[in-house]
Amino acid sequence: MSRELKTFSYDTPEYHQALQLRNKILRNPLGLQFTEAELKKDEQDIHFGLFEDGKIIACLTLTENKNGMMKMRQVAVEDTAQGKGIGSVLAIAAEKIAKENGYHTMFCHARKAASDFYLKLGYNIIGDEFTEVNIPHYLMEKKLI
Ligand SMILES: CC(C)(COP(=O)(O)OP(=O)(O)OC[C@H]1O[C@@H](n2cnc3c(N)ncnc32)[C@H](O)[C@@H]1OP(=O)(O)O)[C@@H](O)C(=O)NCCC(=O)NCCS
Repeated sequence: MSRELKTFSYDTPEYHQALQLRNKILRNPLGLQFTEAELKKDEQDIHFGLFEDGKIIACLTLTENKNGMMKMRQVAVEDTAQGKGIGSVLAIAAEKIAKENGYHTMFCHARKAASDFYLKLGYNIIGDEFTEVNIPHYLMEKKLI
């Protein structure tokens, strides 16, 4: 079995695989679908995934900001592959990309239900809980230096 971690661009075959995974893991369970405005945001972003024999098993998206803070979003691991350290490997590799590109902080809107995942990676909760996609979230961030 071959495993490959790689970045890819909007509207590539890898992007469409990632979008399917994001739909399955992040949107369908909430009874939601991506809106055109949400997908528009993907155009300028860095997309990152782990592929097993060419099939995506985990992905995330990085949104660049001008203030030195990179946003990590859309973190999804195929359900049969969850709990095996894959999400952590992907997030840590994404932090390395951000750092190499001069970013000092990674932040995310973490689902409250997944906040332990980010706490274990060294992220801190900033401020109060808020609602996004109808479920509770925290702003969480980690200094990359
Ligand atoms: C959350 C998610 C990305 C984590 O990826 P993963 O590969 O399953 O996580 P890992 O195996 O790397 O877990 C690392 C640690 O975080 C913990 N963890 C993982 N997912 C967790 C969750 N949803 N809630 C609480 N803790 C979690 C693990 O137990 C593990 O702890 P340990 O080191 O003490 O064993 C993945 O489970 C997923 O896609 N979940 C559904 C979608 C989702 O919630 N995405 C995040 C949106 S903010």
